[in-house]
Parts: sequence; C-alpha cells; structure tokens
Amino acid sequence: MTGAEHTAPVVITPCENGPILVRGDVELRDSAGRPVPRRRATVALCRCGASALKPFCDGSHKAIGFRTDDEVPLPPR
Ligand code: FES
Repeated sequence: MTGAEHTAPVVITPCENGPILVRGDVELRDSAGRPVPRRRATVALCRCGASALKPFCDGSHKAIGFRTDDEVPLPPR
C-alpha cells in the first residue's frame, strides 16, 4: 500500500448507565497531555466520575447508581 495507511474508523459508543466505549486506534492523554497507556483495543472511559482508575471505568458506576437518562434515580428500597 502506498500513501496513507488505511485504518479502521474509531468507534465511540456510550453505554446506557455506564462508560463510553472507545474502539480503534486512538491515543489517550491525561489533562497534562501525557500519554495514558492502554492495554486493549477497546477501552471503557468513565463518565460517572466515581472510578478509582480514571480515565478508565472500574465498574463503580453500578455502585453509585449512575444514570444516563433524564430520569430522577429511584431511592434505594
Ligand atoms: S462509568 Fe464506570 S466507573 Fe464511571
């Protein structure tokens, strides 16, 4: 192949009540511009703010009852 290499498009998928999945060849950086190592082709980025592994999701969104819709969360039973 000559010229620019063909790469698969990056796919970003928001998960209902959970993280944002990023599939594809992207470089993650922290707020200071430093590269964030990634070990997988697909990464789950936290958008609830509760992860202890930011910028990655660690599943804490479930524990805090994170919701991505406009509904007011139901109180615990
Ligand atoms: S979205 Fe999963 S821990 Fe924040």
